[in-house]
Order: sequence, then C-alpha cells, then structure tokens
Amino acid sequence: MAGPTVDFWNERFRSHSTGWDRGGVHPQLLHCVTSGGLQPCRILVPGCGAGHEVEYLAAAGFEVTALDYSEQAVALVEQRLQQRGLKATVLQADVRQWQAPTRFDAIWEQTCLCALYPDDWVGYAQQLHRWLQPQGRLFVQFMQAAKPGAESGKIEGPPYHCDILAMRAVFPATQWEWPKPPYPRVPHPGGSAELAVVLRPIQYGREPLR
Ligand SMILES: C[S@@+](CC[C@H](N)C(=O)[O-])C[C@H]1O[C@@H](n2cnc3c(N)ncnc32)[C@H](O)[C@@H]1O
Repeated sequence: MAGPTVDFWNERFRSHSTGWDRGGVHPQLLHCVTSGGLQPCRILVPGCGAGHEVEYLAAAGFEVTALDYSEQAVALVEQRLQQRGLKATVLQADVRQWQAPTRFDAIWEQTCLCALYPDDWVGYAQQLHRWLQPQGRLFVQFMQAAKPGAESGKIEGPPYHCDILAMRAVFPATQWEWPKPPYPRVPHPGGSAELAVVLRPIQYGREPLR
C-alpha cells in the first residue's frame, strides 16, 4: 500500500516533528461553534492528532469519537482529556478500514484526508459518507499545499495538496451537496492554508453500515 505508514506517523509524534499542529484549536472550529453553526451533537474527529479539537468539543458538550492511526497520538489525546477530567471515545484505528457502530451527526475533518495517499481518497470519502446520518454534515478543511513537482506529475506529501478540482471528483455532486464558493481560506502558521467547506451527504446510493 503506497503512502505513509503507521510507523511514519508514530515517529512524527515521537520526534515532535508535528509541524501541522497549531498548538491550539482550529480557528474555523471556534468560529463554527461560537457562531452556533455547529451545536453539541455526536461528532467524529478522524485523524485527530494531538487532539486540541477533541478536548475543545468534549468541553463544549459534544459527544466525541476521535480516531487516529498513531498510538502516540491516541496517548496524547487521552492524557489531554484526563488532565481536564473530560470524556470522549478515543480509538486507535485506520480510517480506511474502521467501521462505525452508529452514524454521526457531524464529522470534523481536519487534514486527515491530506495525510492519506491520493489512491485512498475516494475510499475514504465513501467511508465519511457512510459514517454520517442522513441529515449529517461534513466539516472539511481542504489542505492547500501545492508542490512544484506536481507540474511534472509527481505525487509529493504528506501533506498531499487537496486541489479543489480533485475534491469535486473525490466528493462528487451525486453524493454530496456542495455550497457555492468562495470558501473561507484559513491560513496556517506554517505557510499553507485550508479551504473550509461544509458538505451534506445526498442519500442516493447510500450503503449500509458494515
Ligand atoms: C496532518 S496530521 C493532522 C492532525 C490533526 N487533525 C491536526 O490538524 O492537528 C494527520 C493525522 O492523521 C493521522 N492519520 C494518518 N493516516 C491515518 C489513517 N489511515 N487512519 C487514521 N489516522 C491517520 C496521523 O497519525 C496524524 O495524527
């Protein structure tokens, strides 16, 4: 299987090479919650990393399930929650294979997609669709990190650049309701940025939970 392994991610956490980590809650999540656009519900945070968003959502009254491939990340999130006496379900799991026991009202997708090799994107998008309630919403942050090698066809990452045209193919309008652009562009202190989009699943062709 192409792309970063679980050892790759564990090593990033072990060596503190986590340049993606803002050291705090994603500003778009703060905006969504404080504006009332995202209210306490059953929410999934796939590829949660160090878990700033998991902590924030749990403290704000959400019923949170968090997933990460890396045992190191899971341990960090559990420690973070324990320090504040907060509760969430934190699982070591591969988003490409995990089976949800029940569907979620919302998913906070913050740069897990861009951590996956592009061959896995369509399968992951189908997982996200399957995990949502019919009226659920996917809050997705599309990483904008184009690399010069792309001009000659190279696949460079992670992070893999989530070009909006590719995203339209990965989350097709037959399965997802897209809002009209422009979308908020949230800068990252590391120099990249994310496009914040809220997608709704369309019920046509919905697969049952496995
Ligand atoms: C770029 S980091 C983002 C972490 C966090 N969402 C943030 O923005 O701070 C990607 C995260 O996804 C996790 N990850 C990568 N591949 C995964 C997979 N197949 N299943 C679950 N988690 C995965 C990594 O361990 C890492 O914590």
